[in-house]
This record gives sequence, structure tokens and C-alpha cells, in this order.
Amino acid sequence: MGDPRLLGKARPVAAFNTAELDALVADMRDTMLNADGAGLAAPQIGIGLQVMIFGVEHNPRYPDAEPVPYTVLINPTIEPIGEETDEMWEGCLSIPDMRGLVRRHSRLHYRGYDAQGTLLDRCVEGFHARVVQHEYDHLQGILFPMRIPDLRFFGFTDALFSAQPAVDEPADNGI
Ligand code: NI
Repeated sequence: MGDPRLLGKARPVAAFNTAELDALVADMRDTMLNADGAGLAAPQIGIGLQVMIFGVEHNPRYPDAEPVPYTVLINPTIEPIGEETDEMWEGCLSIPDMRGLVRRHSRLHYRGYDAQGTLLDRCVEGFHARVVQHEYDHLQGILFPMRIPDLRFFGFTDALFSAQPAVDEPADNGI
């Protein structure tokens, strides 16, 4: 956070199934897995292209965290389904060790392409819908603290959760 590359609008990818795009996706995947994140957008590694990846495997330590299939999503469009929203503590690999309470649409229709140019068209809900909205924001130059309506609910993970043992630590380590 603070790097101007995180505040720009990402450009669409013009060519699919190329060595350059495959290399970018591989670099992003390594970065996300190394940081134990649930998602990553290309601007987070300094590349202003509309490329995001995300995915969460089932974690027995957090039985309530729904698995999300590993997905490469390029040139996405998103559309909320219905009016329902929900709140969740979000983190971000570009804003280490901090969390904020963010309200997002509960259900989402999204479209985009994988690295080979195959169309993805999905209707999703819950954490899957949340991670796509978070990563889509990165492509618009929006970081999650800009989405926190009440900044009392923004802080360091340790301070927010260890001082209040009654509050469950959020399952995701970062989006
Ligand atoms: Ni993020």
C-alpha cells in the first residue's frame, strides 16, 4: 500500500495462450502460495493487467471456511445478484498484518477468461463472491481500506483479535 501501481486501472489482456501470460500467472501463483494468500491481482506484483487468481483449499483448522476452486480470471466483469450483502474481516497481501470489516455483495455473477482464453461464467456466493470482489477492486485501483465504512473496525490483526479472545480469528490469511 502506497505504491502508485496499486491505484491505477489495469488494462485488459489482449492475447491469450501466450508464454508471457503463462509466466505472469505462474509468478502470481508462486507469490500467492508463498504468502499463504487466498487471492492475488496482477497490480500487486507491479503488472497493470486485468489478471487475478484465487483459490482456497479446505483447511481443517477452519472448518467453516468454504473451499474455493483455484481460478485464473482475466478481463473480468462482475454483477451482483440481488441486494443481499454481508460483512467480513478482510486482509490483503499488499497490506500485511491488518484487517478491516468490509461489506460486500453476498452473491455475484462473474465472467472472464482463463489464460487459454476459455470463457468462465459463474454465479457464486459467500467467500468465493467476496474474494472476486476484492480482486476485482485491485484491477480498479481500489484497496480494501477504501471500502471500510467505520474505520474503528480497521487495525492490526494482533490487536484486533488477541485482545478480544471472544472474537474468532478470521479464516483467511489475506486476499
Ligand atoms: Ni488484496
